[in-house]
Amino acid sequence: MTQFSESELTEAVVKSFDNTPSPRAKFLLQELVKSLHDYVSKTGLTFEEWDYAIDFLTRTGQKCTNTRQEFILLSDVLGVSMLVDAVNHRDRGGATETTVLGPFYVGEHKVAAHGTDISPHNLTGEKMFVQSRVTDLNGKPLANVPVDVWHADDDGFYDSQKPNYDEIGASARARFITDDDGRFFFRTILPCSYPIPTDGPVGEMIMQTSRHPMRPAHVHFLVNAKGYEPLITHVFIGGDKYLDSDVVFGVKDELIAKVEKRTDPAMPDGGKAAAPWHLMTYEFHLKPGNGLAPKPLGVKVAEHA
Ligand SMILES: [Fe+2]
Repeated sequence: MTQFSESELTEAVVKSFDNTPSPRAKFLLQELVKSLHDYVSKTGLTFEEWDYAIDFLTRTGQKCTNTRQEFILLSDVLGVSMLVDAVNHRDRGGATETTVLGPFYVGEHKVAAHGTDISPHNLTGEKMFVQSRVTDLNGKPLANVPVDVWHADDDGFYDSQKPNYDEIGASARARFITDDDGRFFFRTILPCSYPIPTDGPVGEMIMQTSRHPMRPAHVHFLVNAKGYEPLITHVFIGGDKYLDSDVVFGVKDELIAKVEKRTDPAMPDGGKAAAPWHLMTYEFHLKPGNGLAPKPLGVKVAEHA
């Protein structure tokens, strides 16, 4: 048995991955070992702290269910999700900015007709009409593109967080298909800023470190056009007080929409409206790509129809 010094130990573990068949896997594992060892050495990590970290990660895994992803939340609040996003989207070239997927994308969204109210169970929120268009970088409309949308209710919770989710099903969550002019539109309610879940280990860390758990109000969009780079982003409600301190660091200036408060008796498609209501207008511009969404952070995304 060989006895290693601290630096020899790191070298030995790195070397132990030398025969990994995949060059990329070998590189990722060896760099991971170097970063982890560097962290332990630099901090002089104690047994108690190591034990706490193991327990924290164990509880993070135990908190995950089919509709809750505590590890994505952990990645989000540590800024890792936004860093992965940044290194993979360095040159936007005029395409719409990207941001985190977040932990509330729960997979396949049902197709809804344009104009559908996707929050029919919400009786308290102020109505919002969302009108949008998907184009390429030259402004050419992209037809027949699936666009998934999802957002929190006016009480700050996503449908998948509610105890009666299995009975009521999807709410404030749907898929729209763009028309010949690249357009789609729908009704919903104005979402509000909301706290990330604070009843798990990630929330515990946020509260114990005197950070606030809030995200500014937003609507998530996943635009997946054949022949273009998939776009995962949010559109934020302009004026929200948490735009400058999003707990997951997801805000980009270009993604902040001016949402107008309206009192007109009709919405843009002619349907009656009770005042006040809100109008969100936002266009998405896609850059050419391979057309199929990768599995973002392990979440299954349907292929282009
Ligand atoms: Fe969200």
